[in-house]
Amino acid sequence: MSNTNALGIWSSKWAFILATTGAAVGLGNIWKFPYIAGENGGGAFVLIYLICILFIGIPLMIAEVMIGRRGRQNPDMAMRNVALGSNKSIQWRWVGALTIISSVLILSYYSVIAGWALDYVFLSFAGYFKGANKEQVDLIFNQLIESPWQLSFWHTVVIGTTVLVVSLGIEKGLERTVKYIFPAMLGLLLVIVGYSLDTGFFGHGLTFLFKPNFDKISAQGVLSAVGHAFFTLSLATGSIMMYGAYLPREVSIPKTTLFIAAADTLIALVAGLAIFPIVFAHGLEPGAGPGLIFQTLPLAFGHMPYGDLFASIFFLMLVFAAFTSAISLLEPSVAWLIEYFGASRKKAALIAGTTIWILGFGSVFSFNIGKNVHFLGLNFFEFVDVLTANYMLPVGGLLIAVFTAWKMNREYSYYEFNIESRVVFRTWIYALGILCPFAIAIIFLNIIGMLKI
Ligand code: TRP
Repeated sequence: MSNTNALGIWSSKWAFILATTGAAVGLGNIWKFPYIAGENGGGAFVLIYLICILFIGIPLMIAEVMIGRRGRQNPDMAMRNVALGSNKSIQWRWVGALTIISSVLILSYYSVIAGWALDYVFLSFAGYFKGANKEQVDLIFNQLIESPWQLSFWHTVVIGTTVLVVSLGIEKGLERTVKYIFPAMLGLLLVIVGYSLDTGFFGHGLTFLFKPNFDKISAQGVLSAVGHAFFTLSLATGSIMMYGAYLPREVSIPKTTLFIAAADTLIALVAGLAIFPIVFAHGLEPGAGPGLIFQTLPLAFGHMPYGDLFASIFFLMLVFAAFTSAISLLEPSVAWLIEYFGASRKKAALIAGTTIWILGFGSVFSFNIGKNVHFLGLNFFEFVDVLTANYMLPVGGLLIAVFTAWKMNREYSYYEFNIESRVVFRTWIYALGILCPFAIAIIFLNIIGMLKI
């Protein structure tokens, strides 16, 4: 097994933590979590999501970092290396390949949404939201998404910049961004929470988010919560394995993982607390869909002193958060092209980027000219989102869990886990090998309608 790789090893534990947090925290926390929690009735969804983070997400994240550190290559080869080293079939590499395909599909629409945020940086700065009411804010949002030209333009800007950074191999410079931007973003979210406290609807928001009402959640909603736990922690997309591949030996995988998952969850919950009181105060629909933050936050900023400045700073930070994620979403396919075909980094980034850019137009048009083109009742954007988050990620995650718990050489995993206590180690193996597959299998069977619980 080779110990060298295209990028070299992280300079410190913090370098790894910052980069992985950069990948994990993104649109998933601030844009997606509130809107799918809203669509699925709030509390019960949030509770299931939190349980999934704890019992499925964290154990799986540990597994992925571990496979990466053992395999020391792109996910496809890393899985193959670890399988080979454990005397198991190299066909397990296909799991790695599946994760790479998921990352490509996710980035194709992720970049479109990041484009919305980018547009909002300028709109806010230009004062469009000053004192705006619900109707004006809705109008501005709809004008944006109904314009294929504007969406294409921003999508191109986002993918272009991502390709540039990845092709120059300067991702690591972004650690600094994470170090400053994320605490600042949390701070600004807390400012909005402050505004929300003032609306008189904070209690409504709190109840909506944290009081579980299981009548409101469907089997599909449960699946979305599971899928979102994968999505938000960037699991089963190859990225975490990639980052693990550059992790120094002496760093504790369980401890660093716990920290990253906690930071990610905290940001999502604070985003929820910021947004839902505004939703109720202005008589908006919690289930308004992907536009939710773009239709609520401008209302809050629009009524604050220096609101336009705060708003543009906030959306700029959101763009940065999305950007650090976009970069790590591009990395697995680029590493794969480099290691498989011996392509140069520039060429690989260009090929992967162009493919993703073209795919992204499917999502661009889903909001305007292609609105009425449906597959299985979903438009292109919804289809790619549901296909990846609700199906490909859980299936990929399940296979990685089974592989790590049942196939990977126990000596490898015990050594990599690096916590003396056998009890902790066993609990982790059980969560991965039994709990995780069963939970996912039951949810899928339920969806297919074979099993009613
Ligand atoms: N976790 C990211 C977010 O919450 C989205 C994401 C999914 C991702 N898979 C990824 C980001 C892989 C980077 C790499 O926004």
